[in-house]
Amino acid sequence: METRTPSESRTVMTDLVLPSETNPLNNLFGGELLARMDRAASIAARRHSRRIVVTASVNHVAFNRAVPLGSVVTIEASVSRAFKSSMEIYLDVWIEDRESRTRSKANEAIYTFVAVDDTGRPVVVPCLEPETPLEKQRFDAALRRKQLSLVLAGKMRPEEATELKALFEDH
Ligand SMILES: CC(C)(COP(=O)(O)OP(=O)(O)OC[C@H]1O[C@@H](n2cnc3c(N)ncnc32)[C@H](O)[C@@H]1OP(=O)(O)O)[C@@H](O)C(=O)NCCC(=O)NCCS
Repeated sequence: METRTPSESRTVMTDLVLPSETNPLNNLFGGELLARMDRAASIAARRHSRRIVVTASVNHVAFNRAVPLGSVVTIEASVSRAFKSSMEIYLDVWIEDRESRTRSKANEAIYTFVAVDDTGRPVVVPCLEPETPLEKQRFDAALRRKQLSLVLAGKMRPEEATELKALFEDH
């Protein structure tokens, strides 16, 4: 089975926040950010699998910081773990300061995509081999997140979520 690294799927999207994309407080509308992240995640999943990919679930989104009108927003997405047909995509969202050009983290999100054939049936994807300490940390935690997502979606019985249960038993 073929193996790919997170850097092979790494996708970087930089764009401005325009007036039509803001809420009444002149900050980026949450749904607009979700759509931008979905696009970046979809490209990362496609680069990893080289197949048609569909969004299966949005596992986690934290709107920690508002993103003001006029901001330059960069979304970085890469596959953090590949399972059989599904892939976890980890997204980091950054805002760039106009004068210093230093960037600060605004948000994070985790999406799950599934690779499918022309008829929409799930197909097997290559394995993922994490390289950096952060990639390894995200890879290790991904199985728990998959189990949590499946339990919440009613697709897995809680007693089957062994990795997830171990998290509570260890702490
Ligand atoms: C995503 C989809 C292909 C899954 O199909 P399915 O019949 O549930 O297929 P399976 O049960 O074999 O699941 C396929 C994979 O998705 C994973 N999966 C399904 N639902 C999931 C969820 N809520 N969270 C995490 N993973 C999920 C399964 O665990 C499985 O992963 P694996 O093969 O890596 O072990 C199907 O539900 C679909 O086409 N949904 C619509 C997608 C779409 O249109 N998205 C855009 C929304 S507008």
